[in-house]
Amino acid sequence: MERTLIIIKPDGVQRALVGNVIKRFEARGLRLAGLKLIQIPRALAEEHYAEHKGKGFYEGTVTYMTSAPVVVMVLEGPDAVAASRATMGATNPLNAAPGTIRADFGLNISRNLVHGSDKPETAEREIKLYFQPGELLSYTRAGDGWLKE
Ligand code: CMP
Repeated sequence: MERTLIIIKPDGVQRALVGNVIKRFEARGLRLAGLKLIQIPRALAEEHYAEHKGKGFYEGTVTYMTSAPVVVMVLEGPDAVAASRATMGATNPLNAAPGTIRADFGLNISRNLVHGSDKPETAEREIKLYFQPGELLSYTRAGDGWLKE
């Protein structure tokens, strides 16, 4: 069992696509362990995107991610990081496969609707940035048994 951090970015919230995005992860079988609507403080965005500091898109990304509310969530499931990334599609929506969130709803790399942790170690770091341990729930859904052999 693995956990990952997903953010529905300001474009997803403003375009009223929150339900559509969550629906795809849920339909895939991933389980919500945490969920909230927040406006990211600048210091938190800088910490989150620290690895990109110095790159051309860093400043724009931090400004954009703090500009309006986002939905942050923790998803849980087998290979949650890889599974959610496959459901999101490539970072640039123009390169994303049809049927993925970014291909179906986006056209621009900076307005690509969702962020997802890129590997399990990153997920551990990112989850701690946005959630206190007590905000995450472990539970079993009635249908979880039907998702595996
Ligand atoms: P995200 O997964 O949130 O991580 C960094 C974000 O920067 C990325 O998604 C994109 O939305 C944004 N971005 C803008 N330009 C670029 C770029 N040239 N390469 C990578 N990410 C970019």
